Parts: sequence; structure tokens; C-alpha cells
Amino acid sequence: MTVRKAVLPVAGLGTRFLPATKAQPKEMLPIVDKPLVQYAVEEVRASEIPLVIFVTGRGKNAIENHFDVSFELENELAGRGKQELREQMRSISSLLEIIYLRQKQPLGLGHAILTTRELVADEPFAVLLSDDVIDSRVPCLKQMMQVYEEFGASVVALQRVPRQHVSSYGVIRGSAVRNKHWNGRLFSIEDLVEKPKPREAPSDLVIIGRYILTPAIFRELAETRRGAGGEIQLTDGLRRLRAREPIYGYLFEGKRYDAGDKLGFLKATVELALKRPDMGRDFRRYLKSLDL
Ligand code: G1P
Repeated sequence: MTVRKAVLPVAGLGTRFLPATKAQPKEMLPIVDKPLVQYAVEEVRASEIPLVIFVTGRGKNAIENHFDVSFELENELAGRGKQELREQMRSISSLLEIIYLRQKQPLGLGHAILTTRELVADEPFAVLLSDDVIDSRVPCLKQMMQVYEEFGASVVALQRVPRQHVSSYGVIRGSAVRNKHWNGRLFSIEDLVEKPKPREAPSDLVIIGRYILTPAIFRELAETRRGAGGEIQLTDGLRRLRAREPIYGYLFEGKRYDAGDKLGFLKATVELALKRPDMGRDFRRYLKSLDL
């Protein structure tokens, strides 16, 4: 079965970016000139998944407006002869089909995913966390779909991080799948722990915000109790699922930025700006001129 639906949980409060997020969703913070959430939606589209399900909450209307048509803006741009910009604005609203669903209680990522149960129904689906911006030649989600197509099992994206950082993540214990094709990048997961202390962590392999899940996860999430931070954790749901089905971890090719963290957000801004054809050269020159 192919993956036709992608779930984007965007109900979080974004307290780490206050005051910037007091009156706007953190997902609308721009890296250069594109909101975080648009990077994620473009990755879904580039992975040929036709439908996005946003799990939203209070104060997130700007996201809906962003992916809708804005006739006023388009008319204004057309009136000023800015056809190219007008086309760009129109293309954002036709990226793909979108459904919005409200998560009425802030009970965590696992709960947000469980909210989509009726809509996703009985098929595999993707989950993207827009805090994780991934710059890669082949979209991260598309790389993971190849794993799903071969094994028909759930797949989580992995990255190695220094031990002292593991407590910000879901951490896995797994064994490398010996297979030339996957080139040491694929792991069969044996266990998962959400935000362990460094000395209790099973490895330095952590989960990054990209998942392909089988629909069996819903049954497990419905039974998952509150875990780390008093929230229903997706990692805990996956741990239950692991007792019933195989789950794979995939060390993706590409660079991930943690845009949910201020320093990570700045790194993403600098590096992605340097790559921009319209401003990269000038920006590089400016950075070199700084007396650091
Ligand atoms: C979430 C997940 C965690 C994962 C991380 C990736 O945590 O719960 O397992 O490692 O995303 O970014 P959060 O960053 O929402 O605390």
C-alpha cells in the first residue's frame, strides 16, 4: 500500500520562541522568507504524497490562511505588475489537498496523532514535525518511503547525536540490518525510550521528526498512558507497537536543522540563506566582512 496521507501536528504552544510566538504560530516563523511549515509541506509534495492533515489548535489560524488563496493580495500584486510574485503566492495554495483538525487538549504528540484516527483510517501514513527542517537531495520522507516499500513496516528517521544531547529526543536500541543496499543506514529497532537521561539512554541514535507509520499505531496510542512531561508520547506508542510488529530506523542522507531551538533556528537561517541563488553571494561576502 502506498503512503497517501501526511500528518503535521502544529498545535504546540511554541514557548521557546516567546515573545515572537505570543500572537503567531511558531510554525509561521520564517527561515529567510519561507515559514517553517511550508518547508514541511513542500517536502510532503516532493515525496508525492497528495494529502496533508494538519492537527491544529487555538491561535493557529495563520497556518490555514497561509495555505489558502488570498485574492486581495493577488489582486494587489497584479495591480502593481508583480506577476511572478503573484504566481508564487497562488502556487502555495495549490501545493496539495489539506484537511485541518483541531486537537482540543494539549496532551502531546501521541495524542495529536491519535486525533487523526478516523481520517487516516486503515492505511500507512507519514508524520512530519516542522521543527525539524531537513535539507537533502532526495526528500527525507521519500528516502523513508523506499524503506517502507521494501519492508511494509513502520520507519522512523534517525540521527546520531553526542551522548549529552540524547535527553531531548526519543532514543532507540537497534541492530544494523546487514544489507549492502542500505549501506549501514538501516536499523531494526528493538526498543525506544522518550527523553532518557544520557547515562540511561540505550544508544546515541535519536529519532528525528519524520515517521512512516502503519495504522496499527492507533490501537497502541489509544492504550498509551502519559509519559515524559506528562504527555502521551508517540515514542511510547511505538514501543508498544514494537511488541507486535517490526519497526525500522533509517539514518537519512541530508542535513537536519533543529529549528525548534533558537541556536538551531539561526544555523538554519545562515546556512539556507548561503545556499540561496538570489542572495547567497552577497550574504557570504557580508559574513566574511564581520570581525569575528
Ligand atoms: C519529539 C518526539 C521525540 C523526537 C523529537 C524530534 O520531541 O517526542 O521523540 O526525538 O520530536 O524532533 P519534541 O521535540 O517535540 O520534544
